[in-house]
Amino acid sequence: MSLDNSRTHWTRLNVFLHWTIVVLIIGQWIEGEFMVDFWDGTLEGHALDQLTVVLGYTHIVLGTLVLVAAAVRLLDRFVNGRPPHAEGEPTWALTLSKVTHVLLYAVLLVMPALGLAAWFTGNDDLAGYHTLLWNPLLALIGLHILGALAQHFWFKTGALKRMLPGIRHAS
Ligand code: HEM
Ligand code: HEM
Repeated sequence: MSLDNSRTHWTRLNVFLHWTIVVLIIGQWIEGEFMVDFWDGTLEGHALDQLTVVLGYTHIVLGTLVLVAAAVRLLDRFVNGRPPHAEGEPTWALTLSKVTHVLLYAVLLVMPALGLAAWFTGNDDLAGYHTLLWNPLLALIGLHILGALAQHFWFKTGALKRMLPGIRHAS
């Protein structure tokens, strides 16, 4: 699904957003616990300490940025295309990587959308579904990282290198 299949590199924007999302997800991992307290306190009307409030709002802001960054990446990929999948990779690995990428995009969009929907409606069930996606996201990320390392060390393709910042990228 792209308008331009002639690229040999990811765009700079795509690479920047890829690593921005990585940093944001690490942030969500670190302060996620505080959001649970912030959410419970807000629903039940408890007094909350300042740190919990600040990190609770941080969770909302960083999470919304993940949603925006993932949407912009998809748009960039649609408009500018993606570099071809590396040659020399067996079909099963190619299929697995495609399925993992689709699922990653789906969770990166649906998870924050559910969080926002929970927040703006005060619906605890939606918050529950939001939280439920955390472990699948971690599993997908784990699989994705293994795949990226396998590309580099086992299949010896240039896939990892071309996603690294500082390598020559299409504008
Ligand atoms: C991809 C982006 C996001 C990730 C990875 C993420 C991750 C997490 C994690 C790890 C937790 C804590 C789970 C736990 O320790 O049990 C959590 C809780 C929560 N998050 Fe997010 N979050 C994201 C975006 C958002 C956004 C944009 C909102 C909007 C308000 C939001 C609202 C919530 C709420 C309300 C909870 C508490 C749920 C509960 O206690 O049942 N999240 N999130
Ligand atoms: C929060 C963690 C991460 C998330 C959510 C994530 C997400 C994604 C997604 C959705 C794609 C697909 C791009 C597309 O087809 O449009 C991608 C590509 C890629 N990611 Fe990640 N990624 C993460 C961490 C990492 C890490 C730690 C590495 C390196 C070890 C990595 C290496 C790559 C590579 C090399 C590609 C390009 C694969 C290809 O050319 O087909 N990613 N990433």
